[in-house]
Amino acid sequence: TSELSPVPSTRLFATPSSLLLYPAAVFCLIYVLLKAIQLYHKRQQLLKAFESFPGPPSHWLYGHSSQVGKDIFVFMVCQLLTLYLSSLLNFTDPKGLTIYKFLIPWIGKGLLILHGPKWFQHRRLLTPGFHYDVLKPYVSLMAESTKVMLDKWERLITVDKSVELFEHVSLMTLDSIMKCAFSCHSNCQTDRDSDYYIKAVYDLTYLVFHRFRFFPFHNDFIYRISSQGRRFQEACRLAHQHTDKVIKERKTSLQDQQELEKIQKKKFLDFLDILLCAKDENGAGLSDEDLRAEVDTFMFEGHDTTASGVSWLLYCMALHPEHQQRCREEIKEILGDRETIQWDDLGKMTYSTMCIKESLRLYPPVPGVSRLLSKPITFHDGRTVPEGLFSLFLLKGPILPSAAYMPLPLKSHFGPECSSCQ
Ligand code: HEM
Repeated sequence: TSELSPVPSTRLFATPSSLLLYPAAVFCLIYVLLKAIQLYHKRQQLLKAFESFPGPPSHWLYGHSSQVGKDIFVFMVCQLLTLYLSSLLNFTDPKGLTIYKFLIPWIGKGLLILHGPKWFQHRRLLTPGFHYDVLKPYVSLMAESTKVMLDKWERLITVDKSVELFEHVSLMTLDSIMKCAFSCHSNCQTDRDSDYYIKAVYDLTYLVFHRFRFFPFHNDFIYRISSQGRRFQEACRLAHQHTDKVIKERKTSLQDQQELEKIQKKKFLDFLDILLCAKDENGAGLSDEDLRAEVDTFMFEGHDTTASGVSWLLYCMALHPEHQQRCREEIKEILGDRETIQWDDLGKMTYSTMCIKESLRLYPPVPGVSRLLSKPITFHDGRTVPEGLFSLFLLKGPILPSAAYMPLPLKSHFGPECSSCQ
């Protein structure tokens, strides 16, 4: 007789684990399908809503994401903004967290990220720190920092090669914000070991922008295990090392009775002193996390934007020596035989101010802001943007007109008169 080989029992009878596995797999499949349908519907709705707005051709999957930053894309957005700016400026919706959330591990939830009641509370707390009476003495501190930078340049230009200015300008603006807002005289422009914060900021701004453009990195887990994610964490650590040091030093100096009495006599406090002395109605100060977030926010916003603005202004001036000459003459006349600028001089620099504004128009240090629409917004011509994320780009870059897409060429040349009439 032939022996029947026994069929393995696993093939005939399901084990308890496989009994659970099938429904779980079916559940996951249904969940993924529902999510995909939901996403598809949302996308269709958005595409329909944006159909009525003019724009360059978009990719069926990526939309316009690959075009962000390209001249043509920027041009179209600028045109839309010209039409709809007045309506957009009125809305006070929360920040669109898509890009802002990538900044949180670095600058925390300070004013730039916050919205709602907490934003309002911090804003009310910090506004006195930017009162004219506080700002006036800052002019001489800034002039001092600028002189250090110019002295460095005097030495550098004896060498017959070009000099990269941006890092010097960044160190100068960092020096200024540290002195003005953080009462910290750091010598960061001349001290060789002090530029690690600036270098970390270069890394961080590049990495945040790259993360925004590369969709797989929007996922926290993927980003954390990627080499870029690890570089980001290291740069955050360095940036925090710098801000922690500044907070610690100021806390220590405020323990000194004399220093404390000095600030108690002041009508308006400097930024960091406001944060350190703030008390709510129950006498509680800011939490360490909130304090750090505001310091990180202002340390970054307070130097990087201005460094970029100053550097682009110098670039524009170099390209247009005729305007540079007029600015020089204007300032020379205001200064007379003095060496440094004073507060009252600022209002007299009409032509130079026009040049600064024009340079900011062409090369804005903050090219875009984003808001999350909590309800649909309808413009004066009846076109509507639905609720959901809406990114608003303020950029008005130097765009070369191209006949295909640019029926209304945007004024792209440097000319101060252009800004003055806006
Ligand atoms: C040329 C220089 C500057 C430019 C072009 C600039 C531009 C901007 C823009 C466009 C925003 C709005 C961002 C948004 O709503 O998403 C903003 C917000 C902010 N900026 Fe500046 N900024 C400059 C200088 C500064 C300086 C010097 C400081 C600090 C001392 C600063 C601190 C801030 C803060 C804290 C916010 C958030 C404000 C809030 O939401 O209440 N900025 N800046």
